[in-house]
Formats: sequence, structure tokens, C-alpha cells
Amino acid sequence: MSSPSPKIIVFGNEKGGSGKSTAAVHAAIGLLRMGYRVGSIDLDPRQGTFTRYIANRRTWMERNVAHLPCPTHIPVSASQSSTIALAHDEDTARLNAAILTLAENHDFIVIDTPGTDSFLNRLAHSYADVLVTPINDSFIDLDLLARIDPETLEIKAPSIYSDMVFEQRKLRMQRDRGTIEWIVMRNRLSHINARNKQDIADLMEKLEKRLHFRTTPGFGERVIFRELFLKGLTLLDLHETEEDSLSLSQVTARQEVRSLLNAIDPEKLIPKPGKGAS
Ligand SMILES: Nc1ncnc2c1ncn2[C@@H]1O[C@H](COP(=O)(O)OP(=O)(O)OP(=O)(O)O)[C@@H](O)[C@H]1O
Ligand SMILES: [Mg+2]
Repeated sequence: MSSPSPKIIVFGNEKGGSGKSTAAVHAAIGLLRMGYRVGSIDLDPRQGTFTRYIANRRTWMERNVAHLPCPTHIPVSASQSSTIALAHDEDTARLNAAILTLAENHDFIVIDTPGTDSFLNRLAHSYADVLVTPINDSFIDLDLLARIDPETLEIKAPSIYSDMVFEQRKLRMQRDRGTIEWIVMRNRLSHINARNKQDIADLMEKLEKRLHFRTTPGFGERVIFRELFLKGLTLLDLHETEEDSLSLSQVTARQEVRSLLNAIDPEKLIPKPGKGAS
């Protein structure tokens, strides 16, 4: 399939719980609020964090008789076919069908992926115009990007996830000469352990050049990100939904979400926003 006209933003990392779904929902709502038409695809409907987030959002709207922007959402599950070839064909057909459905009248498609390797997950990565990889501030997460020497903290070699991204970049180039812009965001940054934080920052700087990604500061460790899920709200909705003014922490968190959107730079990808949110 050649690249469809909407720009595709994939949230991926072969690591569970790094913040893919949380960041993906915030990005989707952020783009809607900028006036873009946004579709979303959940490739992990079994766990279904993104899908449930949107369902919770619709329930919140019904209960509060309010309207909030929502993406046109399509969950896509992996094939259960018994042979690998059949399963791959089915996965490809399902993902292509979802993208084509959304392609007609959306500017962006946000794809949330599971934290595990699979054919479907790799295929989605190969369609990304922008890939956002949240990583927690730990050497365990960094290990998915590169092997690090424990004594010297030197980079020894790229590791599984970076190798996979490299492969998909190659496939993409062969398929339609497209490129995948890779953004790594540090998630759940805490104020404690400044030394570890600095070590990781130094390593990330080296990795950026070696693996060809950009880093963005990402989100701090904030309870609000966990709490909003049940209502299906994002930090970008709070000014419409909270009676009281926002706390300092909420204002800072919202700024962090805006920084992620700035890093994605939607206006560079789609210069003229389409008409209002769906
Ligand atoms: N910045 C943050 N501060 C505090 N909690 C966070 C933050 N980001 C994510 N979380 C919480 O961490 C948990 C995992 O986040 P999330 O579901 O977004 O990760 P994921 O990478 O999509 O996980 P999976 O690989 O299982 O799909 C959730 O409970 C979420 O609310
Ligand atoms: Mg998830």
C-alpha cells in the first residue's frame, strides 16, 4: 500500500507501561483542539487502553451533557489465523482497511500499539510519518534502544527496538521513499535521583546521533495522568471541565503535553488545518 494522504503518528515501544496510550490520547485530543481532523487506531484492543479511554470520554460527555472533541476511532485486532502467511495477510488487510477508512476525511491518524513485538505492530511502524517512543527514565527502558556498557556507560550496539525501527525505515524507503521521523520522549520524569537522570540525558544525546531520533522532554510523573483515564479526559480538556482554576501542577502538565505537540510539529506535516474537530 502506498502512503495515504493523512499523516500517521505511531506511538510505539516494545515495553509495556511506558506511557504509549496516555501520550497517544493526549496527542490525538491536542491535534483535534488545534482544528485538525483526527482518526485513531488501537492495535491493542485486547488490553484496549486507548479504546477504553475514548469510551470513558463518551460516557463522561453523556453524563455531563457536554461535547468534547473525539477522534474517529477504530480498534484493530491481530489475526488469529492458524498459518503465519494467512495471519500476515489478514493483519495487513485489517490495518490497510482501517487506514483507508480514515484516510478519506482525516488529517492525522494516531496509532496506539501494544508493548510487544508482532507482525501487525511492525507493519504499523512502517506506515509512520512520525514515530513517538515514550521511555521511562531507567536503564531498563534504555536497554531497548541500545546495549550500554555498565562500567563506562558507553553505547555498545543498538538493541531490539532500534533494530526494528531501522528495519521499518528501510522497508518504508523501499516501499514509497517515505521517511519515518523518530521522536523519543522521556516519560514519568521525577525530581529524585538527579544523578541517574543526568546519566540518562547524556546517553540519550549520544543515542540521538547514532540512531537518528530527536528527544523531547516528555511528561513528569504526575498522578493526574492516571486519574484522568477513568473520565476519558486529557489535560487539554480541563479548562472546560473543572470548576476551579487549574493547579500549578496541572498547568505544568498541560505545558508538557503542548511540548509534545510542538515536537510532533503538526503544522509542518499538514500546513492548513482542516475544518473543526469531529
Ligand atoms: N506521566 C505519567 N505520570 C504518571 N503516571 C503515568 C504517566 N504516564 C503514564 N502513566 C500511567 O502509567 C500506566 C501505563 O501507562 P500507559 O497505559 O499509557 O502505558 P502503555 O505504554 O500504553 O502500556 P502498554 O504497553 O501496557 O500498552 C498507566 O496507569 C498510566 O496512567
Ligand atoms: Mg497501551
